[in-house]
Amino acid sequence: MAALTRDPQFQKLQQWYREHGSELNLRRLFDADKERFNHFSLTLNTNHGHILVDYSKNLVTEDVMRLLVDLAKSRGVEAARERMFNGEKINYTEGRAVLHVALRNRSNTPILVDGKDVMPEVNKVLDKMKSFCQRVRSGDWKGYTGKTITDVINIGIGGSDLGPLMVTEALKPYSSGGPRVWYVSNIDGTHIAKTLAQLNPESSLFIIASKTFTTQETITNAETAKEWFLQVAKDPSAVAKHFVALSTNTAKVKEFGIDPQNMFEFWDWVGGRYSLWSAIGLSIALHVGFDNFEQLLSGAHWMDQHFRTTPLEKNAPILLALLGIWYINCFGCETHAMLPYDQYLHRFAAYFQQGDMESNGKYITKSGTRVDHQTGPIVWGEPGTNGQHIFVQGIIWDINSFDQWGVELGKQLAKKIEPELDGSAQVTSHDASTNGLINFIKQQREAKVQ
Ligand code: F6P
Repeated sequence: MAALTRDPQFQKLQQWYREHGSELNLRRLFDADKERFNHFSLTLNTNHGHILVDYSKNLVTEDVMRLLVDLAKSRGVEAARERMFNGEKINYTEGRAVLHVALRNRSNTPILVDGKDVMPEVNKVLDKMKSFCQRVRSGDWKGYTGKTITDVINIGIGGSDLGPLMVTEALKPYSSGGPRVWYVSNIDGTHIAKTLAQLNPESSLFIIASKTFTTQETITNAETAKEWFLQVAKDPSAVAKHFVALSTNTAKVKEFGIDPQNMFEFWDWVGGRYSLWSAIGLSIALHVGFDNFEQLLSGAHWMDQHFRTTPLEKNAPILLALLGIWYINCFGCETHAMLPYDQYLHRFAAYFQQGDMESNGKYITKSGTRVDHQTGPIVWGEPGTNGQHIFVQGIIWDINSFDQWGVELGKQLAKKIEPELDGSAQVTSHDASTNGLINFIKQQREAKVQ
C-alpha cells in the first residue's frame, strides 16, 4: 500500500487542515451549530442497553469527518475488516489469522481457518470453563485438605494479566458468591510475596496464564507459587487441585507440572494482548460467574457486528480511530482520551495502553496516564469497545497491529541479559546505553556485598 502521506485522500485532509486548521475553535463550533451534540454523537442501541459515543468536543467539522471517512475507504479499511472476519492470515509477519471475533461469536456461524471451522473448538473450551466455574463457585471443587476455594490467583503479564484484571475490577458489583481474585505480574518478588502472605494454600487456586508458557516473569512467579504451596502441602499430587494453566503450549504446561486435564486451551490466532475473551478470561468467569462471562462475550459480539456491518459514518470504532488519525497525522499531536469517570474502570487505561503500545508502537508518557489519541467521553452501559479502532488505525498506517516479533525481541533480550547480571565481568555485548545500565547494576551489587 502507498504510504499514508502519498494517499490523495490524505493529501486532501492535510490541505483542509492547512487552510482551516487554525480557525477551529470549540466554543465557536458549538455557537455556530446548536445541534452539534446531535450531529457529532452516536447512540448505539445494544441488546443490553444504550451506549453513547459523544465526539462533539473534538476539533472537527462535517467536512473533516467526511474527509476522514473517505480516507478510511481509500486505505481499504472495509476490505481489511472483512479479511479479518473471514479468518484470512492478516497477521502476515507470523502467517496467522486474527480471530478474537471467533471467541465471542455468539451466533456460532462457522469461521474457517485453513478450511476448518474453529467454532466447535471454541465452544468446547467454553464448556470446560463453564463446568470448572460451576464446580469452584459451588464448592464442589475441593483443595487437597477438602477446603473450598476462596482465592484465585492469576499469574500472568501483559495481555495475560491486564485484560482480566481490568474486567474483574469493572465487574466487581457482579462478583457476589465468587472467590476473591488476585493478579500477580511483576517479576520483582515483592509482588508475589505480598500476595501469598495473605493467602492460605489449602483454599487457593493458582491460574498460570501464558499464551507461550515461556514468559520469564510468569514462569518465575509460577515457580515461586508452586514452591510456597508445596512447602505446606508436601505432596506433589496435590498440585492438580490448586494449579491450572491457560495456554496454547501443552508441552510446556506439562513440563511445569500441570496436568493437561487442568489446561484451558486457546490458539495461535488469538493475539496475546487482546486475549481476555479466550480462556485467559477464566479468572473473570470464576469471579463473576460463567453466566456473566457469557454476557460479556455477547456484549463484545454485539460490538463486533456493529463494527462489521454499520456504515463507516456511524461506526463507533471507525470514527474513534479516525479522530485519532486526525490529531496524530494532521495536528501532529496526541490527545488524551477521556475515560468514563467510573472507579470500577480505573484499570481500563493500563489495559488500553498496553494493547495500543504493543500493536501500533505508541508509547507511554511520563504521567503514565495517557491513552494516546481519541475523542470525547464515551459513556456506556457495559464494557463495550474491543480494540477494533487499534486495528483500524493499523490499517490506515499500514502497520501489522498483531505482529509479535517486536515484543518477542524484548523477551529474548531479557533472557540474554539475566545471566550477564551475575559475576563481576564487564558487559560489552549490547549498545553503549544498555551496557552502561547493566554494568552500573553490577557495580552497585558488588558494592553492597563488600
Ligand atoms: O508483552 C509482550 C507479550 O508478548 C504480550 O503481547 C503478551 O500479552 C504478554 O507478553 C504475555 O505473553 P504470554 O501470554 O505468552 O506469557
